[in-house]
Amino acid sequence: MRKSLSKEVFNQLFTEARSHHHWTKKPVRDEDLKSLYEIIKYGPTSGNLQPARIVFVRSEEGKRKLYPALEGMGSNLGQVQSAPVTAIIAQDPLFWKEAPRLFPRMDVKGMFENDVAFAESIAYRSSSLTGAYLMIAARGMGLDVCPMSGFHNDIIDETFFKENSWKTNFICTIGYGDDSRLYSRDPRLTFDKACRFE
Ligand SMILES: Cc1cc2nc3c(=O)[nH]c(=O)nc-3n(C[C@H](O)[C@H](O)[C@H](O)COP(=O)(O)O)c2cc1C
Repeated sequence: MRKSLSKEVFNQLFTEARSHHHWTKKPVRDEDLKSLYEIIKYGPTSGNLQPARIVFVRSEEGKRKLYPALEGMGSNLGQVQSAPVTAIIAQDPLFWKEAPRLFPRMDVKGMFENDVAFAESIAYRSSSLTGAYLMIAARGMGLDVCPMSGFHNDIIDETFFKENSWKTNFICTIGYGDDSRLYSRDPRLTFDKACRFE
């Protein structure tokens, strides 16, 4: 029987975790990014089809390739320039090709093969979730993150995914945040506003 994790764990993952916009100089090791993937790959996805694809951009050359996608997007360019890593969370439109191996107990390949819009919606939903698993797992590892949708998708797709037609969902900076530069937490909706029982 599993038991609830400690309050301290939930504080680190949720209630005290912040979206960081400024970064310390502490680097993130490639081994940590590999460990991060080894955790998030177990997060559930539709039909276990794992449509998310992730590029961890951390070299100077890779980062420079990202910058044109952030032009005109306010502080986002500076945030990506200063973050040790920016993850591109993308989705593979042809994710369903692996269906026979990844979901062997049911023949689902045809559902996606013949319906591009349905496949796209499934890929978007599951890759968004994988991105959320990435953020939570990174926080669990003591890292900080900031998800971002303020960028030009088409430029990232053209620059990074020309050969395989992957589509960018969102980007997420990863590193060790500078707590001294956080602004105060914005309000959250109450239970009664955001939820209801039926
Ligand atoms: C899907 C998504 C897109 C976001 N896009 C941006 C962005 O483009 N630039 C940015 O600085 N922060 C971005 N954020 C961060 C949010 O502004 C931040 O999570 C929110 O204000 C809550 O802040 P907190 O986590 O520190 O409480 C984004 C967050 C999400 C989930």
